[in-house]
Amino acid sequence: MKDPASAAETARRYRRFAEQEARGRSPLYEALGLGVAGDPEILDFLLTLPEAKRQPNLLLAAARHLFGTPAGWEEFRRDILDRPEDLRALMLVRATQTNEPARCATLLPVLARLPQPLALIEVGASAGLCLLPDRYGYDYGRAALPAPDGAPVFPCAVDAAVPLPAAVPQVVWRAGLDLNPLDITDPGERAWLETLVWPEQSDRLARLRAAMATAARERPRVVRGDLRRDLARLAAEAPREATLVIFHTAVLSYLPSLAEREGFAADVGGLCRYWIANEAPSVLPAIAARAGEAPTGRFLLSVNGAPLAWTDPHGAALDWIDGAS
Ligand SMILES: C[S@@+](CC[C@H](N)C(=O)[O-])C[C@H]1O[C@@H](n2cnc3c(N)ncnc32)[C@H](O)[C@@H]1O
Repeated sequence: MKDPASAAETARRYRRFAEQEARGRSPLYEALGLGVAGDPEILDFLLTLPEAKRQPNLLLAAARHLFGTPAGWEEFRRDILDRPEDLRALMLVRATQTNEPARCATLLPVLARLPQPLALIEVGASAGLCLLPDRYGYDYGRAALPAPDGAPVFPCAVDAAVPLPAAVPQVVWRAGLDLNPLDITDPGERAWLETLVWPEQSDRLARLRAAMATAARERPRVVRGDLRRDLARLAAEAPREATLVIFHTAVLSYLPSLAEREGFAADVGGLCRYWIANEAPSVLPAIAARAGEAPTGRFLLSVNGAPLAWTDPHGAALDWIDGAS
């Protein structure tokens, strides 16, 4: 073992991933995470990468992208040790960038209540799939909105307090911003997005494929840029007659310091009429402090800094917070 302290930290990270994230969701990823955590040779492989590139989701997706989905731990381990250079090269050029269009199901009730029509900017848009909330169908159990031809229908369990829309919002302009926009018309980029879906989640994969087909037709514009520096320029392009909404889901955790996240939160309100954040509660603690106790594993949806709802991180559920309007 080359660096016992870093190896122990990486092992802890993989065990935590296996036990807290994969357990109950992906038996295969749970087994692979535990396997990595207890294997000195695979840990040594991970230590050849920069710390930020040792994350479980990146290793698992990159290995499946190159070698296919393994039957179990032994096959996974053998694939890595047979072709470590190929795997390292892919992990160095790729980032996770999971694009989950089902998150639109949790945004829709908020977007539909705003003064229409809307201009949408998504920061951290990846391939731009969440920029098309008006192009998908939704099944909220007690109400449904049909999908246009071939588009996916996203199921979302909602509590009784969620105000369900009768129609999708009217979006007249949309644009995304990302450090590394993914081109949805490129088969390699689409294959990478597919590999980021966990192995047993076949329904989710089918909906992702349908959303990618929709996006390949609609071609939402995603420009390269940093949400800390390039947002004002993009916001200035939005048509003045539409209500400008800036939103993000599963993005601000990529800004490592709380000061940077709070800096963004302080500035974004000056650029738009509505700012919608859908993030883990730990990401913006000042907002979470006003939301009450966080249910385990939920994201917090807030509008202009006011807590509104708890959401499933992949868009499968939405629960209004008591007293939120
Ligand atoms: C986990 S993905 C989420 C994508 C999309 N929002 C969704 O919910 O499906 C996070 C995205 O944020 C982008 N990102 C991270 N830091 C960023 C920054 N400083 N500026 C712009 N984009 C950033 C990443 O490149 C990645 O595409």
